[in-house]
Amino acid sequence: MKEQLDSIKNQAEKELSTASSLQELESIRLKYLGKKGELTSVLRGMGALSAEERPIIGQIANHVRSFIEERLEETESTLDRKEKELKLGQEVIDITMPGTSRGFGKRHPLTQVIDEIKEVFLGMGYQIAEGPEIELDYFNFEAMNIPKNHPSRDVQDTFYINDNVVLRTHTSPVQARVMKTQQPPIRIICPGRVYRSDEVDATHSPVFHQIEALVVDKGVTMGDLVGTLKVFAKVLFGEGTNIRLRPHHFPFTEPSAEVDVSCWGCGGSGCRICKGEGWVEILGAGMVNPKVLRECGIDPSVYSGFAFGLGVERVAMARFNIDDMRLFTENDVRFLKQF
Ligand code: PHE
Repeated sequence: MKEQLDSIKNQAEKELSTASSLQELESIRLKYLGKKGELTSVLRGMGALSAEERPIIGQIANHVRSFIEERLEETESTLDRKEKELKLGQEVIDITMPGTSRGFGKRHPLTQVIDEIKEVFLGMGYQIAEGPEIELDYFNFEAMNIPKNHPSRDVQDTFYINDNVVLRTHTSPVQARVMKTQQPPIRIICPGRVYRSDEVDATHSPVFHQIEALVVDKGVTMGDLVGTLKVFAKVLFGEGTNIRLRPHHFPFTEPSAEVDVSCWGCGGSGCRICKGEGWVEILGAGMVNPKVLRECGIDPSVYSGFAFGLGVERVAMARFNIDDMRLFTENDVRFLKQF
């Protein structure tokens, strides 16, 4: 039996020294130490030995077992390392190869203009307000002093969901929503999308953007409106920019004005950008009509306010010298990349 154990030991040692893969190692382990392995079956036969022989052979057998186990472990870690090295060798990455570069996106020109204008007004202490794009006829028209069947609805024809619900034609309904929930002092701007049933052409779209501004407090005057617009125009179009107010009519402001900025292309002498006018119209403005204040629960004998509504597309076209509004929505990267 001792010889048998010795030969198992020698045999195992020989096989282990030539094993070249982890798989091979596993079959060696099974062959000697497994349930039906050679060493296991020798140990089973120990019952037939005499009481003096048993501890001696038992000791040898244990020695052989731990010898094989140790060798298995050693060989395993060597093989393991070799296999990893081999794999690393095969999977070498060529760091000199050019990678696939990802293009950086950027903000849409309209978003850029909106963000810039927000920045200016946040800096002057305004807050951002929001309102729904699907709006009640009441807020879009009636609260803004545009009664049903009034001819001034014609210039803001829109899409009706039903008799009482429309796609808002301007951001002005947010004025009413704010005034009805907030007492003065009020100082808000509201950027947002608006809708009108206009045909698409170079300067019209049924969907476009406005930024509304509303200030209501004690003693607010037209002078405050003009001063605010001047600051705003200079930040957006440059220090040398002037503004001009032309009398106009909006049902929700009184008096009302259309506001032009002096052309940044020519400084006022006339060029292609301003079509020879020297001025470019960018917004509608005025003092909040006392009727609107009263309708929204604000006492016009105590408070007054100004409001204006600016066309974002128009400002962006002016700023970036874009001559067709459709370009904003075509998503042509060659166009978008330029801003
Ligand atoms: N809501 C007006 C429009 O869309 C613009 C405006 C807003 C005018 C606020 C005066 C005051 O034409």
